[in-house]
Parts: sequence; structure tokens; C-alpha cells
Amino acid sequence: MQPINILLIGGGGREHTLAWKMAQSDLTQSIFITPGNAGTSMHGTNVSLDITDHHQFKNFCIDHHIKMIVVGPEAPLVDGLYDICKADDHLATIPFIGPSQAGAELEGSKAFAKAFMTEYNIPTAAYKEFSLENLEEGYRFLETLSPPYVLKADGLAAGKGVLILKDINEAKTQLHSMLNGKFGKASDKVVIEEFLDGIEFSVFALTDGKNYVLLPIAKDYKRIGEGDTGLNTGGMGAVSPVPFVNDEMRDIVIQQIVKPTIDGIADRGFDYYGFVFIGLIACEDGPKVIEYNCRLGDPETEVIIPRLKNDLVQLFLSTADGTIGQQEVKVDKQFATTVMMVSGGYPEAYKKGKVITGLDQVNDSIVFHAGTKKENHQVLTNGGRVLAITTLGNSIETCTSKSMSYAEKIDFDDKYYRTDIGKDLE
Ligand code: AMP
Ligand code: GLY
Repeated sequence: MQPINILLIGGGGREHTLAWKMAQSDLTQSIFITPGNAGTSMHGTNVSLDITDHHQFKNFCIDHHIKMIVVGPEAPLVDGLYDICKADDHLATIPFIGPSQAGAELEGSKAFAKAFMTEYNIPTAAYKEFSLENLEEGYRFLETLSPPYVLKADGLAAGKGVLILKDINEAKTQLHSMLNGKFGKASDKVVIEEFLDGIEFSVFALTDGKNYVLLPIAKDYKRIGEGDTGLNTGGMGAVSPVPFVNDEMRDIVIQQIVKPTIDGIADRGFDYYGFVFIGLIACEDGPKVIEYNCRLGDPETEVIIPRLKNDLVQLFLSTADGTIGQQEVKVDKQFATTVMMVSGGYPEAYKKGKVITGLDQVNDSIVFHAGTKKENHQVLTNGGRVLAITTLGNSIETCTSKSMSYAEKIDFDDKYYRTDIGKDLE
């Protein structure tokens, strides 16, 4: 096959990792990334493209002979980019990695995801959904639960839509405020569910809507502070594999969760050529789903993709032509951990534009850029999460120590990172 031009949508650590991996494929001619970051520009060309402008998007794909579109983040998928492409004569034949709008509802609507799990008997927390009309019923449902109370905005709320509250009165107040627009339209509906106690981990499948391959399992660290305390972030670090997910638990996850999820997608007839990311909690009575995402996780991607030995572009082509079931995933047995360096203040207010130094000192880890940009030959911070430092090795401890030694050497004003990534798993 002739090497192809690929358009990758997104600009975070996940996209740098995907660009890094796809650039290693013989099937890749060139990669265009929109918007990209300073890291993606090492593997392709960053372009500024308004993907919601159909003409601009289409003309770009035609002019640059794009033969594959890969979508990193959820928003374009939930907004129906797949469907727009498939409805266009010129774009319809381009392999597209990411589900249709209907499939992306698994992430775009918590109520939809819960109904899906109920229909296909997929273990998850007991729940009910409420809107402003039945607020009183919501209060009564809360009274039947024991604390803590879990309230979820139905729609996408930039990762902030889940509230976990200890006090019933606070839960009622928050339910009232969510249904009155706390998260805009995203909280017109609210899912209230049973609190699940256990350790979280993440499972990823690449599917063509009927068959799938399982990618390495990972665990991310969501809170800003040591010991997983403080505010929720996009993710402060990740580890793969996850030692407590042994073969037996993996088997249960496949049989009770992954297979029924893919079968459900097939049964509903969704066009789904892309990733399913299943967020799980290992409960005493077995693993349960806390959420679906229709994309890869960030920073989980920064540990699972470096462990993947397959040609990623080949896997994507097989996904798009419906033959992913014939592929066999080969995984490096080593551990991978990533430590995220963030801007001081994140996940609240932080400053951008700080000069990053010391990147050239890294030789046996991989630095994946997240919020960075290049300006006048310098690399500057350009977001809350700035760099993910990934190390492969024989133990979680050796990997995180090495990542942290580089996090010490790499410098920018007000840098911060957690020093306990993976410690609970060692
Ligand atoms: P989500 O936005 O669905 O990823 O939820 C954010 C975080 O809230 C999850 O990563 C969990 O830590 C927590 N969470 C969500 N649902 C539950 C639940 N039912 N029980 C306990 N924790 C939960
Ligand atoms: N790290 C969690 C996520 O990507 O949603």
C-alpha cells in the first residue's frame, strides 16, 4: 500500500502520543495535526483548522490528499463529525477513527450510557435520572441512598459534571442547582447513582462496531494532590499494566463488560469505528462501569500506546474496514508510567507562556507534550497540563523514579507534579 496522509484532530498529550506512534508506521506519508502542540510538530505539520467549518475542513482534506482522519477528543465526535464526513461525497470514503454521533452518546449522555448498560446487563451502579419536573422525586431518591451521594450532569461538562457529596442537604442543594443550569444544558438532566467503593482502572478497546481488540489496561491519577487528594484534574499521571488486574479479573472484565458493550453497540447498529474507553471500579462484588468514553484517555494514552508493539496505522485501517477482529495486539511486557508536569494553579487559574528548559536532557524517557507551543525557537507552556514524562521499565518504581528525575531537570516557572504516581500499586 502507498503511504498515506493522515489528519489528526486534537492538541494534547494524547495526540502527541498518537502522532509519535503513527509517525513510526511505514504506512504513514505525513501527518497533519490540528491544532497540535510543540510536540506534535516533531512528527508532522500543525495546522490551524476550524473543524466546525465544513467547507474549510473538506477543502483541507482534498487539498492535502488526506486518506485517514483520526479524532483524539470527544467533542467533535459528540458533535457528529463522523456523520458529517460520511454524508459528504468527497470525505465519505476516508477511513475515520471515531464513532458516529449516535455511538458517541455513550460518552455524551450519562443517562444514555446508563440505559445502555441496563439493557445489556453490564454491571454498574444503581441509578435514576431526573429533570427539573421531577426534582421532588430526586430529593426522595436521595433519601433512599446512603452517603456519599453521586450526582452526574447528563451531558459533557468539561470533566466537572460529577459531584460526590457527603451531606444529604448539600446533595439536595446541588441537585437543585444542577437542574437549574449549574452546568448549562449539560445538567438539564441529572443521573443520581449509588456510590461505588474500590480502586479505579481503565480498559480500552479498538472496535469496528462488531469485533474489537483489547489494548493494555491502565490506571490514571485524577486528583491534583499527593495521595489522590484535592481537586479533580484531567489526570496527573498513569500506569500500565495495573498489577491488581490479574488474569482472572481481566477475564471477568472481558466477559461481563467488554463483550456485552461491543455486542450492545452492534445490536444498536451504531457506526462505531474507534475507541471505547471503559472507566471501571474494582468493587468487592466485581468490577463495575462508572463511565464510557468514546476516545482514548489522557494521560492513559501516554502509557498504553508506548507499550503497543503493533503498527497503529494498520490497526486503524483494519478498524475502518471492519476487520479489526483479525488483528492480534502485541504488547510490551514492561511497565510504563507517566508523570504529568502541570502549571502551578492548575486545575484552577494558571499562567501560560513560561519558557520550558531542559527538554534536551531527556534520553531514556519519552516526553509527550500537552499544553505547549513553539515560539521563536523556544518551547512555552500553553495549558494546565504541560508535559507527560513516560518511562518504560521493569517495575513501576523504576519507571516513576526516572520520570520524576526528568521532571526535576525540566524546568518552567511554577511547575508542579505529583511524586506518588503508582505508589499504591508497587
Ligand atoms: P466521570 O466524569 O464519570 O469520569 O466521573 C468522575 C469521577 O467520579 C470518576 O473518575 C470517579 O472517581 C468518580 N465517580 C463517578 N461515579 C462514581 C460512583 N458511582 N461511585 C464512586 N465514584 C464515582
Ligand atoms: N484520564 C481520564 C480521561 O481521559 O477522561
